[in-house]
Amino acid sequence: MPKLTVDVIVDLQYGDCGKGKVAHHLCESGTYTHVLRYNGGANAGHTIFHRGKKFITHQIPAGVFFGIRSVVGNGCVLDPIQFFNELKTLKEGGVDTKDKVFVAENTHIITEAHRDEDRREGVRIGTTGRGNGPAYREKYGRTGVRAADVPELKPYLVNVYDEWYGLFDKAQGKRKNVRILAEGAQGFGLDIDWGDYPYVTSSHCTTAGVLLNGLPPQAVGSVWGVAKVYETYVGSKKFQPDGDVFNKIADVGEEFGATTGRRRQTNWMNMQTLERAIRINGVTHIVLNKVDVLRAVKQWALYDKERKVEFKGEKEMKAFITERLNKLGLSEHTIFFSESRERI
Ligand code: IMP
Ligand code: MG
Repeated sequence: MPKLTVDVIVDLQYGDCGKGKVAHHLCESGTYTHVLRYNGGANAGHTIFHRGKKFITHQIPAGVFFGIRSVVGNGCVLDPIQFFNELKTLKEGGVDTKDKVFVAENTHIITEAHRDEDRREGVRIGTTGRGNGPAYREKYGRTGVRAADVPELKPYLVNVYDEWYGLFDKAQGKRKNVRILAEGAQGFGLDIDWGDYPYVTSSHCTTAGVLLNGLPPQAVGSVWGVAKVYETYVGSKKFQPDGDVFNKIADVGEEFGATTGRRRQTNWMNMQTLERAIRINGVTHIVLNKVDVLRAVKQWALYDKERKVEFKGEKEMKAFITERLNKLGLSEHTIFFSESRERI
């Protein structure tokens, strides 16, 4: 019997933790038939280093770099102008996108009016101004426009039922599996339900959001949670405490938004945010990025139960985190500490 499985990449903090890097690594393993973007819109910015070149993608999933069928799912909202710009940039960068990039026909569309409204009204919570919130509002208000209504998108449209199960049905007897890598956007702290409302995005950023794209719960295999050893946030609430060290972290970590170029506010990692995100997402593997940044600023700290805990050094902080993660069922060989430019 062929199998349909979905591995998930999910951000455990406020976005920008390095999902692109994990996606790139998993795609390289070469066993996926599809990569799915399951939430969000052109508000996301994924920085990917591919064959020595830097690419920033907003909507098209990482699978495209590896010739894997890359699907923008119906959990997303799509800005067609941005989508075509991105296709052009990828092609110019030598990435073959032909017959590799698809959009679910029931994906809702970000229009010019949505973008205008978001630039005017989004200032309140500090959105990316990409029209994300207004597009989701119209989806749920049942006044939206869908991908199937946009003639220019016709060559890219798929019905995700046919995409997942059509291939599966065809694979019967051939022992060919359908293996999907689901790539999230934003993160747990920005999730519409689990984030710090109203300072949130308008979509479901957790593993639950993957299932909204026509996939059954029992298909979910590995869930890769991605975090940093400190936190960053972009938006209008005050997030960064006073202290020079936080500006240093932002400088060393090059913490500027990939979409808007805004400087990210920084803070120590919050252990409880991480624990909640691990449980709610069902994380089976975790990557903790940017250890080198704390090494450069020579301070090792995190918040635990609303108290700041300081460590003598890297070894002590890693041991503390590892012990906590062990309690949540993550074993040594599913925990990866990683550096900014390092591959996993
Ligand atoms: P929106 O998603 O553009 O509506 O913005 C809502 C909030 O999510 C704002 O605080 C944004 O800065 C934040 N946000 C949206 N997308 C990203 C992302 O890809 N990385 C980090 N923050 C994001
Ligand atoms: Mg980002």
